[in-house]
Amino acid sequence: MTVTTVSDKAHVPFVSVENMMRLVLDIGVEEAIAQIVGYLENDFRRWPSFDKTPRVAAHSKEGVIELMPTSDGVDYGFKYVNGHPKNTKDGLQTVTAFGLLASVDTGYPVLLTEMTVLTALRTAATSALATRYLGPRNPKTLAMIGNGAQAEFQALGLKQVCGIKEVRLYDIDPAATRKCAANLARSGLTVVACQSAEKAITGADVITTCTADKQYATILTDNMVGSGVHINAIGGDCPGKTELHRNILLRSDIFVEYTPQTRVEGDIQQLDADHPVTELWEVIAGQAESRADASAITLFDGVGFAIEDFSALCWLRDALQTSPRYVLLDIIADPDDPRDLYGMIQRERLRMDMPQAVASA
Ligand SMILES: NC(=O)c1ccc[n+]([C@@H]2O[C@H](COP(=O)([O-])OP(=O)(O)OC[C@H]3O[C@@H](n4cnc5c(N)ncnc54)[C@H](O)[C@@H]3O)[C@@H](O)[C@H]2O)c1
Repeated sequence: MTVTTVSDKAHVPFVSVENMMRLVLDIGVEEAIAQIVGYLENDFRRWPSFDKTPRVAAHSKEGVIELMPTSDGVDYGFKYVNGHPKNTKDGLQTVTAFGLLASVDTGYPVLLTEMTVLTALRTAATSALATRYLGPRNPKTLAMIGNGAQAEFQALGLKQVCGIKEVRLYDIDPAATRKCAANLARSGLTVVACQSAEKAITGADVITTCTADKQYATILTDNMVGSGVHINAIGGDCPGKTELHRNILLRSDIFVEYTPQTRVEGDIQQLDADHPVTELWEVIAGQAESRADASAITLFDGVGFAIEDFSALCWLRDALQTSPRYVLLDIIADPDDPRDLYGMIQRERLRMDMPQAVASA
């Protein structure tokens, strides 16, 4: 392959999966999640200043491919993400993603990155933030239902940000629970593998459901959920894909990210279109009440919204200021004369035909 000399303007920092893993190891998973919580909190406080649109979803029989754009007028971000619950049977992940941050002023990208790992971090950060604002005081025990790719991040985020000490695991596939328990063995959390969702939620202050199944599932039934708990229901995130029995929703104070998207994708798709919900940013900005009292059930019906990915992209951009965990890709064409794109290609022919002459010129 011929290496072309390109200008700085053509170069965009790119974070591969390898570099993302190393960056996360440099910082520490729990610390990275805590740092992203800070970015989320700031962005939730200034929520009205963002462009907001429900994500653009291409549904198929087996899954969904989504584009999630937003902008605060200075930076623009988007994520490409899929959700294919059957994938793990074929050795593929349910959720993969990549994304980009760009300057609104020039339209030039400033960061291109893998976002499969970054999504797990930001989703854990979002659950932690929601739990901190909505959950009971000093929660100690988390029930983690669904022990797949997201699970360890969720548990570690709640440990770091909310002080969770014990995690009780359940998955319909015992191999997933064994994997999760082994990964969390040296985390400082007390890990209890459970035989049923009912056993897992016994004594839990916080319940996180993060299962993948393309149907109206009932991971929790009404009789299982007692007063005072906080639920992060984050696995039901598509039309026709929910996790909670409708009656739990009717007993809960419901908090969402962006109502127009959650009405279609969240567990609240089971409710009337005018059922009252509160957007989480309103609580964080001090414009709405959090939980009513210690006996209330608070439900964060999380589906994942573009502003969360924007916050995570900004966190990554800033982290790279002091980290070498990226490479520069020449993904922007940069002719010497901005209008001479065609001439740039012709000059490349010269380089291809006479590389030594061009190099010594
Ligand atoms: N809200 C968000 O922002 C957000 C972000 C990322 C992923 N998700 C969603 O979270 C879900 C999980 O994602 P993942 O990457 O961990 O997927 P995954 O496929 O790696 O894991 C899902 C786990 O759920 C288990 N499961 C399925 N049905 C179950 C049931 N009835 N009871 C208990 N366990 C059950 C599976 O056995 C599997 O281990 C997906 O639906 C995904 O779309 C949401």
